[in-house]
Amino acid sequence: MKQQIIRSSQIEKDLAQILAQLKYDGLFLLTDENTQKFCFPQIEKITEIQSAKKYCIASGDSHKNVRTLAAVWSFLSENGANRKSLLINLGGGMLTDLGGFAAATFKRGIRFINIPTTLLGAVDAAVGGKTGINFNGLKNETGAFAPAIAVLINARFFQTLDAPNLLSGYAEMLKHALLDSQQALTELLLFDLENPDYPKLNDLLFESVQVKQRIVEEDPTEQGIRKALNLGHTFGHAFESLSYELNRPVLHGYAVAWGIVCELYLSFVKWGFDREILMKIAHFIRENYESFPFGCKHYARLYERMQHDKKNESGSINFTLLKAPGEIEINQTASRKEIEETLDFYCDFFH
Ligand code: GLY
Repeated sequence: MKQQIIRSSQIEKDLAQILAQLKYDGLFLLTDENTQKFCFPQIEKITEIQSAKKYCIASGDSHKNVRTLAAVWSFLSENGANRKSLLINLGGGMLTDLGGFAAATFKRGIRFINIPTTLLGAVDAAVGGKTGINFNGLKNETGAFAPAIAVLINARFFQTLDAPNLLSGYAEMLKHALLDSQQALTELLLFDLENPDYPKLNDLLFESVQVKQRIVEEDPTEQGIRKALNLGHTFGHAFESLSYELNRPVLHGYAVAWGIVCELYLSFVKWGFDREILMKIAHFIRENYESFPFGCKHYARLYERMQHDKKNESGSINFTLLKAPGEIEINQTASRKEIEETLDFYCDFFH
C-alpha cells in the first residue's frame, strides 16, 4: 500500500494542484459541523471545490454509526457518484474513518483524499488505510482496509486546537517515537507542550507520520508488525472504556498516554526496558496529562475490559512491549497478577 502523504503549507494551492492532476468524474466533499465552519473556508475558493457536491454530517463519535454511513451513501448515490468519482474527507478521525469506509464500500470502492483537521487525525486515523464505524456499541466494529490516495496534512488547522486535543494527538506521536528510536523519543520529551512552537511541531509530526507509514507499508492488514502500533492501547482502551462507564469521558490520547506508562512498566518487568527511560516518560506524562482517578476497586473491571479487547488472540490478552525504544516485541501477554502489579505502579506514581 503506497499512500501519498503531502506536507501542505498552503492548503488551497496544494489541494487545487492535486485536483488539477487527478482525473475523476464528479467531486464530493464531506465535512462535519465543526470543519464546515472552521476549516472549509480555507478551501472554498478552489474552483473545483465550488462545483463539488457537499455534505455535512453531525460531529462527535456518537455519530460514527451506520445511520450516518447510510446517509453518506445516499448523498453519493442521489448526486450521481460513480466508480470514477472522488470524495474528499475534511475532518478529524471520526470523519476520515467514516468517510473512508463510505468511499471504500460505495460501488465497491471509489477513491478518496483525507485532509485531517486534528493532530490525532493527522498522526493516526487519516494515515494507514483503516476505515470504519462503531456498531452494536463496539468501537470500529465494522470497517475495511482502504487507503486514501492522498493525505494532505496542513499544520495551520492544528494551531486552533485547544490544549487537550493537542495533547491527545501528541500521545500517539510519543508512541511512534518509542517504536522508532531513542533519538526520536528524546526530541519529543524536550518539546514544550505548554508553549508549542508550531513549525517545530510540524517537523515532529512528519517524522511521526513516517514511522507509521513505514510500519503500515510492511504490514498493511495487521498480520504482524502493524500490531506494534497498539503500544499503550491495551491498557489505554480499558482506561478509555472505564472513563465512559464512570461518566467521566477522557480523550483517546490521554488514555493512550496512561496506557503507555503501564505498558512500559510491563516492558521493564518482562523485557528489562530501561527504568530510567520509563521514569522520564512517566514524569513527562504526569506533568502534561492529568491522571484519571481510579483505585483498586476498579482493577477487576479494567481486567475484564482487557479480556474483551479485540486485539486478543486465543483467549489471552495481547500487548505490544519494548525491550528498548525501537526494539519491539509484539504478541506479548501478561498474567492477571502482572497486570494488577502494573496498575499498582500506575496508582502509586500518579496519585
Ligand atoms: N491506529 C493503529 C493502526 O492504524 O494500526
